[in-house]
Amino acid sequence: MPTRDPLGRPLGALRISVTDRCNLRCGYCMPEDAYEFLPHREVLRFEELATVARAFAALGVEKLRLTGGEPLLRRDLPELVRLLAVIEPRFELALTTNGVLLAPLASSLRQAGLDRVTVSLDTLDRSRFVAMTRRDALDDVLRGLAAARDAGFSAIKIDSVVVRGQNDDELGSLLEFARRAGAELRFIEYMDVGGATHWRPDAVVSAAEILSRVERTHGPATALGDRGAAPAERYLLADGTVFGVIASTTRPFCRACDRGRLTADGQFFTCLYGREKLDLRAAVRDGVTDEELAYLVAARWQVRSDRGAELRASLADRAPLVPLSALRRDPHLEMHTRGG
Ligand code: GTP
Ligand code: 5AD
Ligand code: SF4
Repeated sequence: MPTRDPLGRPLGALRISVTDRCNLRCGYCMPEDAYEFLPHREVLRFEELATVARAFAALGVEKLRLTGGEPLLRRDLPELVRLLAVIEPRFELALTTNGVLLAPLASSLRQAGLDRVTVSLDTLDRSRFVAMTRRDALDDVLRGLAAARDAGFSAIKIDSVVVRGQNDDELGSLLEFARRAGAELRFIEYMDVGGATHWRPDAVVSAAEILSRVERTHGPATALGDRGAAPAERYLLADGTVFGVIASTTRPFCRACDRGRLTADGQFFTCLYGREKLDLRAAVRDGVTDEELAYLVAARWQVRSDRGAELRASLADRAPLVPLSALRRDPHLEMHTRGG
């Protein structure tokens, strides 16, 4: 029996941010010039992460996703995957990466037991990529995607955050690119998460607008339905292409949210927008048993009432979620610390 919260939502998936550092500086996530990163000694070691993961497995969590910052910046990541892949019951293991370092690592990640890869890619234009991420790394990302396919990953996804005036004229070319690459594209609405200090309502391209733009160029998109707890609504085009839209901003999906989040320094959050954290690092370093760890997590989940994105959507006047001064005081409020 999975652990449930008071709204009946099971704890089904865990997103582990393995580092809060990133080698890109996307305008919707890390737009500032300087950041305060988590101290090294506080970052969980691989054995500690595996201990935490065992507790979640015992609670019925079936999906585990490694995120960042940029997870491939964490040295020897395939070794962590190896440790996680032997935990019983076996997790479905996924990775969300910006792809810059994926080419040299794809095959060892696959061999270590990683099941799925999602690559973030917002533009296919080199100079625009530089403008959006402040690094000249488009070719590395494209090589990374090709390497993931060659390594035998079958369910590759591409995540594109759509920002008005920046890449919203590329919906069609991103779709074509993903189709040729054998990947499933998901358009993501620009979210007012912590860290998105430049967020403005008029920069959001809504799911409804994304869909009508795609239909204008590619014909009717049929909703596939039955998304379960997944954030993406999926659609089928006449040519067989399947794509998704993640409408966190205009059509939030908190009612079905089964995701917990662990930061690199072992803080457990029950919502992307949540303020309360549970210090699992302290518990692990105090030497609690696996059962005690699982109990702590279950007790937290059972009182969870988060509906972060829904509450944001109900506000009449929306501005960035967290002011820069507050982010500087507590980096745990940052999206890149929370694991995207
Ligand atoms: P699968 O469906 O298992 O492939 O993964 P996913 O879509 O949950 O993972 P991914 O890392 O690709 O997430 C895509 C994007 O969805 C994230 O970058 C966020 O923008 C958004 N997202 C994921 N989880 C949440 C969540 O709990 N709340 C909200 N509001 N948005 C989320
Ligand atoms: N809005 C939407 N998605 C975001 N991400 C980070 N910041 C934002 C934001 N403000 C997500 C993107 C990216 C992943 C790592 O985190 O999907 O691909
Ligand atoms: Fe961009 Fe992801 Fe890095 Fe944020 S964590 S700056 S979204 S690549």
